[in-house]
Amino acid sequence: MRVTIVGTGYVGLVSGACFSEFGHHVTCVDVNDEKIKALKAGDIPIFEPGLDSLVDRNVKAGRLDFSTRLADSVGASDAVFIAVGTPSRRGDGHADLSYVMKAAEEVASLLYGYTVVVTKSTVPVGTGAKIEEILMEHAPDKEWDVASNPEFLREGAAITDFMHPDRVVVGTTSERARNVMKELYRPLFLNETPVMFTRRESAELIKYAANAFLATKISFINEMADLCEQLGADVQDVAKGIGLDNRIGKKFLHAGPGYGGSCFPKDTLALLRTAQQVGTPLRIVQATVDANDNRKRAMADRIIAALGGSAKGKRVAMLGLTFKPNTDDMRDSPSLDIVPALLKAGATIHAYDPEGTAEAKKLLPDITYCDDAYACMNGADILVIVTEWNQFRALDFDRAGDLLKNRILVDLRNIYARGEPQAKGFEYYGIGRGG
Ligand code: UGA
Repeated sequence: MRVTIVGTGYVGLVSGACFSEFGHHVTCVDVNDEKIKALKAGDIPIFEPGLDSLVDRNVKAGRLDFSTRLADSVGASDAVFIAVGTPSRRGDGHADLSYVMKAAEEVASLLYGYTVVVTKSTVPVGTGAKIEEILMEHAPDKEWDVASNPEFLREGAAITDFMHPDRVVVGTTSERARNVMKELYRPLFLNETPVMFTRRESAELIKYAANAFLATKISFINEMADLCEQLGADVQDVAKGIGLDNRIGKKFLHAGPGYGGSCFPKDTLALLRTAQQVGTPLRIVQATVDANDNRKRAMADRIIAALGGSAKGKRVAMLGLTFKPNTDDMRDSPSLDIVPALLKAGATIHAYDPEGTAEAKKLLPDITYCDDAYACMNGADILVIVTEWNQFRALDFDRAGDLLKNRILVDLRNIYARGEPQAKGFEYYGIGRGG
């Protein structure tokens, strides 16, 4: 099969590389000339484990290429995936569909034989219908279908998630489109991955409902963590104890500083706006969003409390700035709330992040960036773990203790076992660990 992917952002690039690994011929197209030049030269613009070798292998095999021109590949493609950005529109939180609509118009003018136009971007329910209108206007005499095929990739684990998904969701009622999509995902069919065909609207909503549900699980366990602290319970045990019930499931029950990233914050807001528009308020999702916003803001207060009530003139050693490990993505990271609040309270910050420094420097210019975890501890009044990178999981506490002014550790990700830092003389503040 021949495939065009429009947009070489995170989802577009990973999907394109993985479809080429399945044996299809894929062209990834982007308007950004610099990005395409870099990709052609083998430079991957994002940090995603395994992506560089996957791209390299498939480019060398002649199955994957990059272009700035849709005209080079759309006409010959069996499927065209729209994977451009859908950022939150400034002011109202709606998903901004201008890039999606522009891509659809351009694709429409280039269609040749039968083509399935597929939305991969997270798009509000009804977007497929709008794309259909555009195609009817610009390509009335061509053969096409519009399908929705939402993506459930996690940053940092995207390739495994694409190759071994829990399910594939395809929204289309056209038999012809289904056959093209079945062929595209053939290796997964052979693996007996559940592939669900639904109405297009259902597929579009499944994506938002999944992210909103996962975000709700996180806000729920974060509230339980606060309660644990007051009641002398341990949230790790509570999460395990409820998670072993199959109806609840143990994943996404890690209490922490609040969820961030490019998806949960944006998608929950967009879902709320869609629901408001049709007069169906989503009270649970609203509460999830509010709880998360409050939580991120409250994290700096915990650090200040651990410092004895004032951060004035104190130096904070901060480990991790990205919204989660194995990514360089800083979007909506809890650190973007924590750092400004600490600076405002009079602290100075020395930070280290294994991959996020370049991005972080743009967003948090007023802190000192260090080259490794121990460098930022030198002379600091407190050590704070914001992101659970693996390399922070086995810190040398003797060395850390010698470098720090005070042996105080605030572990916002609970990566240390109860008692472990205390055994090395540290005052330890985890999340939801009362008693
Ligand atoms: C999320 C979903 O997990 C993917 O299925 C989805 O495809 C993707 O959004 C998307 O819509 O594109 P991602 O944002 O990469 O993926 O990251 P997650 O691993 O889901 O983490 C999101 C946030 O929740 C992070 O800030 C993480 O630290 C936080 N989190 C996650 C918790 O605080 N506790 C948990 O138990 C799990």
